[in-house]
Amino acid sequence: MKNLLDSLGPVCAVIGAQWGDEGKGKIIDILAEHFDVIARACGGANAGHTIVVKGKKHVFHLLPAGSLHEGKPVILGSGMVIHLPTLLEEIRTLKEAGIDIVPRLLISEGAHIVLEYYKEIDGVMEEWRAKEKGGKIGTTKRGIGPAYMEKAARTGIRMGDLKRAFAGAAGDLKSMLRWKADIAQRQYGVTVDLDAEWDALKQAHDVIGGCIGPMTILFKLLHVDGKRILIEGAQATLLDLDHGTYPYVTSSQTTAAGALQGLGLPPRVLTSCIGVAKAYCTRVGEGTFATEETGKIGERLRERGGEYGATTGRPRRCGWLSLQDLVFSALINGFTHWNITKLDVLDEEGEIPVGIAPKEDGAMNYQKLAGWKASTKGMRSFKDLPPNARKYVEFIEERTHIPASFIGTGPGREDMIVR
Ligand code: GDP
Ligand code: IMO
Ligand code: MG
Repeated sequence: MKNLLDSLGPVCAVIGAQWGDEGKGKIIDILAEHFDVIARACGGANAGHTIVVKGKKHVFHLLPAGSLHEGKPVILGSGMVIHLPTLLEEIRTLKEAGIDIVPRLLISEGAHIVLEYYKEIDGVMEEWRAKEKGGKIGTTKRGIGPAYMEKAARTGIRMGDLKRAFAGAAGDLKSMLRWKADIAQRQYGVTVDLDAEWDALKQAHDVIGGCIGPMTILFKLLHVDGKRILIEGAQATLLDLDHGTYPYVTSSQTTAAGALQGLGLPPRVLTSCIGVAKAYCTRVGEGTFATEETGKIGERLRERGGEYGATTGRPRRCGWLSLQDLVFSALINGFTHWNITKLDVLDEEGEIPVGIAPKEDGAMNYQKLAGWKASTKGMRSFKDLPPNARKYVEFIEERTHIPASFIGTGPGREDMIVR
């Protein structure tokens, strides 16, 4: 483990290689112990990162999954869009578990605020897509698209605005809110409850006002204090706004480059990038999924893998691994290591098809690998895995030229093979 941890270097990013929910939370939680700072860069409460510690499940939407580790600074970067009541709820939940995160929480003044009514606009846009555009995206309805729209239009409200408003410039923010409310009404027919929005801002400021600051803190932590930084990616490569399966994507940059941008870190500081991929594949929401199994096989994977959304509870679409997607993600992100997760979910399969490349008609060409029909649950050593399970992992390594340094064998913190 020590050699492997050394090989990750001082700045490591953990990035989803498929359509999200690969198990990023779990590896972040495991690695956080060995890093000094945990930073989330992009996205918002559309993310749901689950960890299971001593049998207890924790789901994080905005705070990094590494937050349980006491004493480590936790950063929410400029690339994020933050729904303040959700953040307060997470802070409260941690407090109930005996963890006071506020004194070590740093929120970028450049991060955008997701106002309550953005969620309604998200819903209105989905209805419009369903009616006029031939189908919805299947968003999480957390107001993510509208928040990034406002950001790009330069009409967003940022954490720095919140800080200034309660330091004496409330009038500016109030008039901005009134102007935005007027547009929301005229453009989307959404009525904004201005008093409720203001109350939510005030309540949030009371709790986290003192956490807001510039992202340059990361330079100090890295270069002056010599701290090691763990970057928690959210969503995943195939949901990336630029490189994903547009328009069935999220509205942020979900790649390693996007994560660095979201934290204001220069690309050259990144010393390692762990690609997280399930041993099969899932997707929640609409859009292409060439290796999807819609019948009994898909149901079996869903039940064995507990494939229901951590944020919305929606059943996840399930199917086989696509090698082509893994290679694509590895190239886009520059992965240095794999974390192949949920190998145990395949324990009962007699034969495991792996998507190699699509045929001309769009159907998938598969290579069938032999299953192992034995339990790998909770295994912690690669050599103890059944031979065919080892071969399955080695097949991924050989075809992608990236070592599978971490292999998940169960949801618990300890259910991980580290090589
Ligand atoms: P994330 O969004 O990438 O952090 O992933 P989610 O938390 O949304 O979904 C991953 C799910 O798989 C969670 O319920 C995890 O507890 C679970 N999980 C993670 N790794 C493993 C594993 O190796 N085996 C099994 N069986 N479950 C896992
Ligand atoms: P984590 O970090 C899985 C998907 C939604 C939808 C599309 C756009 O837990 O892996 P949005 O609400 O972002 O506008 O929805 O993106 N999506 C995710 N799917 N895991 C996630 O996050 C996701 N975040 C967004 O289901 O298809
Ligand atoms: Mg998730």
